[in-house]
Amino acid sequence: MKTSISIFTLLLILCGSVIAAKPFPPTSELPPQPEPPDPLVMFDGKPVASKNDWLKKRQPELKALFQHYEYGYFPSPAKFKTTTDYVDRKFLNGKATLKLATLTFAEKKAPQIHLLLVVPNKRKSPAPVFLGLNFSGNHSLVTDANVPLPTSWINGKYPGVVDHYATDAGRGQQADVWAIEQSIDRGYASASIFSGEIQPDLTNATTGVREAFHGSKDPQHDWGNIAAWAWGLQRGIDYLETDTDIDQKKMAVVGHSRLGKAALLAAAFDDRIALAVPLQAGAGGTSPARGKIGESVQRINTGFPHWFCGEFKKFNDQPERLPFDQHCLIALCAPRPVLLSNATEDTWANPAGQFEMLKAADKVYRLVGTDGLASNAMPEEGRLIESTLGYYIRPGKHSMTADDWKIFLDFADKHFGKPH
Ligand code: GCU
Repeated sequence: MKTSISIFTLLLILCGSVIAAKPFPPTSELPPQPEPPDPLVMFDGKPVASKNDWLKKRQPELKALFQHYEYGYFPSPAKFKTTTDYVDRKFLNGKATLKLATLTFAEKKAPQIHLLLVVPNKRKSPAPVFLGLNFSGNHSLVTDANVPLPTSWINGKYPGVVDHYATDAGRGQQADVWAIEQSIDRGYASASIFSGEIQPDLTNATTGVREAFHGSKDPQHDWGNIAAWAWGLQRGIDYLETDTDIDQKKMAVVGHSRLGKAALLAAAFDDRIALAVPLQAGAGGTSPARGKIGESVQRINTGFPHWFCGEFKKFNDQPERLPFDQHCLIALCAPRPVLLSNATEDTWANPAGQFEMLKAADKVYRLVGTDGLASNAMPEEGRLIESTLGYYIRPGKHSMTADDWKIFLDFADKHFGKPH
C-alpha cells in the first residue's frame, strides 16, 4: 500500500509554522519578568482580553517566542511517501494487528522514519492511539523478528545495544516499559518511532533531520533536537491521519523525559494532537526555567547543548529574562488535555515546580472555555487529578512503567470516552 501526505495536511501545518526568524530583541535587552510571566499579557505589555485575542494574537506570538529563544525555528513539514512493509493481523494471539510503515522523504539527505503500529482487532470503530518516541529502537518494544533493527546510533546503555548499535538481543527488551498489550486490552492503538532515527542524540550528529532541513538560516536560531524530535512526532501524526484504523480525533502523544519535552512541544504546535502526556519531562519541558529545584537552564544547556537553539544559552545565568516559562507551552495546548506525570524520587524533574506550571496555565484554559486544573494543591501519591490539566505523582524513580500507562489510559478514557 502506498499513501502520501495530503495537500490539505501540508497547508494546515504550513500555516502553523514560522519559517523565518522574527525580529525579537537580543536576549540582553529583554526585561526580567515576574515568576511566572503572565501568559495573558502580550510581549508589548498589552492584555490578552478574550479568547479571540488568545487564538489570533497571543498563540502565534508565543509560538514565535518559544522558537526564537528556546527550541529554535521549525522547518516546514516535508513531503514523504509511505510504504506499509509488513502487516500481521494475528499479533498478540489474534488480539491485535501489527503494522510496520516506512516514511521516505523526497529530500535525499533526510533519514527514513520507521513507524511501528499495533491496533486492537476487537472494536466497532477506528481506535484512539498513543504515539510516542522510543529510546532504543522499535524492535525493543516487541519480540516479533520482522521488526527491522535500527541502523542509527543509540544513546545510552540498553540491553542488546552493542557499542551504540542495535543487535537482535535487544528485541522485546523494552516491552515492559511500553506495555502495548495493556493498551490493546483497553482498546487503544500504540504507535512508536525510534527517536535516534529522526535525530541522533549527539552534539555533532551528521545524520538526522537537522542535517536535511533548517528552520532558520541563522545557526543561533535554527532548531535543536527537542524540536527535531517533536517534528518527527508530527510526521508520525501525518501518517496516522492516513490510516483508517485510527480515530483522527483521538490521537494522543506520550514521551518520557527528553522525549516527553518533545511530546509537549509537538502538541503545543499541532492541533491534530488531541491529548499530551509528557512523563517526568522536567527542564525545557514541563518544569519552570526559573525553578530552584532540580535541573537548571545552565545545567541542561551545558549537558545537552544540542537540544535547544544557540540563543537559549544566553539565559544560563539569567532565566528571569525569558519572555515566557514552560506553563506557556502547556497553555498552547488549550483546550486540549495535558497530563503531567511524575515520580517522587525524580526531583531532577521538579515535580512540585511542574504542578506550579499547571496552575499558571490554568487561566488560559479557563479563557478558552474549559475546566483547567481541578486542584490548587498537589495530590497525594497515586491519585490522578483527571481535569483537562491533569497531574499525577507516584512513588519511585525516573522511569516509564506499565502502571504509569494505566494512568495515561485512565486519563484518556476520561477525556476521549472509553473505546468500544
Ligand atoms: C537527563 C537530563 C534531563 C532529561 C533526562 C532524560 O537527566 O538532565 O533533562 O529529561 O536526562 O531524558 O532521561
